[in-house]
Amino acid sequence: MTVHYELCVEIAVLAADNPPVNALGVGVRQGLQDGIARAVADGAKAVLIYGRGRTWFAGADIREFGKTPVPPMLPDLCNAIEAAPIPVIAAMHGTILGGGLEVAMACHYSICVAGARLGLPEVGLGILPGAGGTQRLPRLVGFEQAIEMITTGRPVSASRALEMGIIDKLAEDGAARDLGLAYALDLLAQGATPRPVSQTPAPEAVDFASLKQQVAAKARGQLSPVAAFEAVEAASRLSFTDGLAEERRLFKTLMETDQRKGLIHAFFAERQVSKLPELAGVRPREVSQIGVIGGGTMGAGIATAALLAGLGVTLIETTSEAADAAHQRIAKNLSGALKRGKITQSEHNELLHIKLKTTADYAQLSTADVIIEAVFEDMTVKKQVFAQIETVAKPGAVLASNTSYLDLNEIAASTTRPGDVIGLHFFSPAHVMRLLEVVIGDQTVPEVTATGFALGKRLGKVAVRSGVCDGFIGNRILSAYRTAADHTILDGASPYQIDRVLEDFGFAMGPFAVADLAGLDIGWANRKRLAATRDPRERVPQYVDRLCEDGCFGQKTGRGYYVYDGKTRSENPDVMPLIDAERARLGLSAQSFSDAQILRRYMAAMVNEAAKVVGEGIALRPLDVDIVLLMGYGFPRYHGGPLKWADLQGLPAILADIDGFAKDDPYFWQAAPLLRDLVAQNRTFDDLNKETGT
Ligand code: 3HC
Ligand code: NAI
Repeated sequence: MTVHYELCVEIAVLAADNPPVNALGVGVRQGLQDGIARAVADGAKAVLIYGRGRTWFAGADIREFGKTPVPPMLPDLCNAIEAAPIPVIAAMHGTILGGGLEVAMACHYSICVAGARLGLPEVGLGILPGAGGTQRLPRLVGFEQAIEMITTGRPVSASRALEMGIIDKLAEDGAARDLGLAYALDLLAQGATPRPVSQTPAPEAVDFASLKQQVAAKARGQLSPVAAFEAVEAASRLSFTDGLAEERRLFKTLMETDQRKGLIHAFFAERQVSKLPELAGVRPREVSQIGVIGGGTMGAGIATAALLAGLGVTLIETTSEAADAAHQRIAKNLSGALKRGKITQSEHNELLHIKLKTTADYAQLSTADVIIEAVFEDMTVKKQVFAQIETVAKPGAVLASNTSYLDLNEIAASTTRPGDVIGLHFFSPAHVMRLLEVVIGDQTVPEVTATGFALGKRLGKVAVRSGVCDGFIGNRILSAYRTAADHTILDGASPYQIDRVLEDFGFAMGPFAVADLAGLDIGWANRKRLAATRDPRERVPQYVDRLCEDGCFGQKTGRGYYVYDGKTRSENPDVMPLIDAERARLGLSAQSFSDAQILRRYMAAMVNEAAKVVGEGIALRPLDVDIVLLMGYGFPRYHGGPLKWADLQGLPAILADIDGFAKDDPYFWQAAPLLRDLVAQNRTFDDLNKETGT
């Protein structure tokens, strides 16, 4: 039973019991509806609803989306609660989200325990509050605040909810059931009667036209915030009942979109990605002290992330001056956290002066449970560092490398404890970016893998398992789609058209704007590194090297593909002549590309490499690739990740594109065997996710 009924003197108490988050699945909906009817039949004077376990209802049951709906439907349940002839009281704690908040707003009175969060996060799932939330919330808080809360999906604290008028009462602490009963008795003593929000008149209208523009601009192609806005706006011109009907119409439209499918895929994939069959029953090692070697961009960021997670950090640099510089970098990162209110001044001081040590003395690493190397990207230097680590690290310490591309197995083989070696590939800035690739070498033991995942969780990261290859999951795929973009330029497109197409697709920045941000010198160094072993059939543009030779490294020098003036960028007039010269040198005539053709090439390269990464076992499942691209490479979440996007497009069309491109460049365009197999078997990447589900 998911809702328990109990008559407590004159109050009918409905206890929701659907772990872990009391999602409003069909059993809960039926239980609540029956409970209200039974309370009235039993002659109860009031109904109290609360959730057992860790929370009030955290929303509709997302697993039911896309399936045939089973009554009672949530909007009908909310209406039935509101129409009850006796007061219905919500006593809430935990996460009061989505349909959970809609049920609460349908109740006549509410009390909430401090520490709770209340919100309508539906837009993040590609839908909108579909059980009256868009009609009841503005009646409680006014249009502006309702639009803000519903179109951003951002939750508010219980005390803020009280100020806004979403709840009636706040309790500092206590059990929801006890607090609710006491409040219900008070209300009855005062002669309280039902108080339906639907009968409150709609609030004063606001400047909807300008608010809509703002919402659409922020949504950047995502449909749900704009549709959610329209549903709220409907409350200003329609009756409550007609407003509900409009909300339902918009809700159903969104439910059918690929964006909804993509966002829900992302929600579950984010939770699935850390579930590894190989780790079932494996206990991670204890971690309280971290060692970091190298205090540059990455080392300082990793140290900051560890400090913010409450771990002690010892950071090693080459000299005491370099150690001081690293200390300053970390101090700067921590002062950012202080400014954003993530830590207090006294916590800041403790982290910087007690929890952190920066030194040039490797011997200080002897107490570290995990040692993360983040020195220059050079195999010789890395091997020297691991040799030094070995002499000081305690037995059982996990030895990690933050390398971006280098062969982890080679690093591990240079040590006497390869089983303890792992890759922990953070993304820059490491204390901000949530992605962590946990790279597993041939000899890494499961306990060390488990420790990598446990550490990732402790640091608030989404950890993804990767095997060893050049660039691991993310950088390897990036290199393939960047190459496709480079080829498209040689063949006739401009970097600016490509950036615009990808930004229209939903990326915050196109690939060339990203290259400017990362620094063009990085790619330049990489091209030089790979030159000696490059296959002669590979097409590598050289015009960018000319830019680099002129000192144009992108944003850091103010010039790259773009010219930067503060925050604004404009096309660099030197770039197209360099590209034209290169085309002339190669004897290529520029073709014209439609935006759709550019997108197809770019995405085909991304999907094809991703399929190779899965097919070779570098990524465990397609969803692992999706999470890497979503969390680390700015792939628009509403497309669900490249492989979810590919499924939604249809794999045969993507394979046909690849085979078509291969006619001109058979070296680059070699279809992934896995993609071919899936098309031949009429299967999808998602079928593989389900097969390997844990
Ligand atoms: N439906 C179904 N399953 C859900 C769920 C939901 N609404 N919310 C969470 N779960 C599942 C998770 O998938 C996970 O399952 P697993 O253990 O098998 O992986 C389990 O519950 C625990 O979830 P988390 O790991 O996310 O637990 P946390 O403690 O980290 O977070 C939470 C809890 C903040 C409630 C978070 O789960 C969350 O944000 N959930 C989604 C909330 C939401 O979006 N609600 C709106 C739903 S849409 C809606 O209500 C439509 C309505 O307007 C009609
Ligand atoms: P960086 O050049 O900013 O920092 C490297 C630091 O290591 C320098 O401060 C240097 O003094 C120190 N160092 C060098 N040899 C050392 C030694 N023997 N002992 C102690 N310290 C030593 O480099 P960055 O960008 O921080 O990169 C570090 C590693 O992280 C590289 O392997 C890189 O590929 C990887 N990485 C970089 C990312 C980025 O965006 N910058 C992203 C993810 C990984």
